[in-house]
Amino acid sequence: MSKNTLISRSGRLLTERDLDYRLETPSRDGFVVAWPPQRHWRPVEKTSQVTSRPLHLYFHIPFCLQRCRYCFFKVGILSENSHEVREAYVDALCKEVEMVADAMDLRGRRVRSIYFGGGTPSVLSPEQLARVKKTIDAHFVLDDPEFVFEIEPVTFSNRLIDSLPDLGVNRISFGVQSFDDRVVALTGRHDTEEKNCRAIERALGTGAVVNIDLLSGLEGETEASWRHSVNRATGLGVHAITMYKLELYSNAEYMEGLKHGKLSLPNNQQELEFARYGIEQFQSNGYLPSTYFTFTREGKFPQRHIISRWRGEDMYGFGASAFGSINNESRQNVSEIDDYLKCIKEGEIPLHRSLKNSSLDNMMRDVIMGLKTTTIDLSNYHKRHGIRLESLLSTAIEFLVSTGLLYRDGEKLHLTQEGIIYGDYCGRYLGAGLRNIMTGEQRPLRA
Ligand SMILES: C[S@@+](CC[C@H](N)C(=O)[O-])C[C@H]1O[C@@H](n2cnc3c(N)ncnc32)[C@H](O)[C@@H]1O
Ligand code: SF4
Repeated sequence: MSKNTLISRSGRLLTERDLDYRLETPSRDGFVVAWPPQRHWRPVEKTSQVTSRPLHLYFHIPFCLQRCRYCFFKVGILSENSHEVREAYVDALCKEVEMVADAMDLRGRRVRSIYFGGGTPSVLSPEQLARVKKTIDAHFVLDDPEFVFEIEPVTFSNRLIDSLPDLGVNRISFGVQSFDDRVVALTGRHDTEEKNCRAIERALGTGAVVNIDLLSGLEGETEASWRHSVNRATGLGVHAITMYKLELYSNAEYMEGLKHGKLSLPNNQQELEFARYGIEQFQSNGYLPSTYFTFTREGKFPQRHIISRWRGEDMYGFGASAFGSINNESRQNVSEIDDYLKCIKEGEIPLHRSLKNSSLDNMMRDVIMGLKTTTIDLSNYHKRHGIRLESLLSTAIEFLVSTGLLYRDGEKLHLTQEGIIYGDYCGRYLGAGLRNIMTGEQRPLRA
């Protein structure tokens, strides 16, 4: 008999996992040493668990050629941000990597993805990009990482594109928005269909996975212009197409026009039809949902960086306003470029706010962000959280199934084709249901 075996005074065998035995009759047997009981703990691998956990790095480049009229991102416009500011920013990024790697004990961690996003990373020169990459190489171990780089097509140059493979870039994401020159011109951008296609073709020649972003709901969009954009996108041979729906925030220039009645945008019904048309065309051209807004050729070429972030893997965000989550804590940097530069100059980590994730936060994240991948694996969820989600949320799931947005196939919950259009609604609905059950709150279920 193992020395861990407990026997009650009445001779009954007690297992450490037996939570119920005390309920029969009050008993003082069964001292609880630890929970979960140590016999369920597993030997630690030789490499420490901390260093073997994958790490993802995000670099925010907050500069753009122009402020697009629909955009809400906090960016500095290049005409107002001289070459010196960009130099100072790149220096600061390198310094931040050095400081954070030491302070957070990240040196030597295995990096599985790197993402240069913005703003517009392609406004940095190949030399500036190489400096950041050299700093990454010096502080981390690159474990065959996915390396994503965002480009606004108008900033594209052969010199830039030729430098990307040497940096290790293997995924290029173009912000196209629309292939209709009239619609693009109304946004304040300077791209044209012809320039876009040339840049995309050249990028495909580098061997990188190429993604293009389309944005539905722009000023001047008509059924014909949207259809043109979708059809052009599917005909270019790119690996992935992302379809965003316009989000309106108070700091976007569009808001002024709307407030003064000088701007009209496609209405909800039109937007819905744009999305339905997009999904149908993507699917019939072999682009399957990899997430609820990115469609990839035959469902291959998933974007590791974003999916890992949604799964709660460690991701550190460098640069002004960058955010991430590391060691179970969500963190975001200061958002103004000047504040960011000042912090770094003074040797301070430019952290603005943070939140220690609770177990409930993580359980909700795996539902809300998990559904962005279009599928929740129920047995995997059970393994991570010890909970049968389909039992706990049976009523909420039934509701989404009855509205045609969700379906269950064995151990998987999937968004339907229509559910993909309402992906965040479904995630928030299930998340709210989970919160109510776990906290005992009775808040109405609203996504
Ligand atoms: C950081 S930007 C991409 C790189 C580059 N700045 C560009 O615009 O080409 C990422 C994507 O966000 C999307 N986006 C920008 N403003 C948006 C908004 N108001 N609502 C929804 N998506 C938006 C656009 O599709 C854009 O391509
Ligand atoms: S859409 Fe892209 S280029 Fe335009 S302002 Fe936003 S981040 Fe900059």
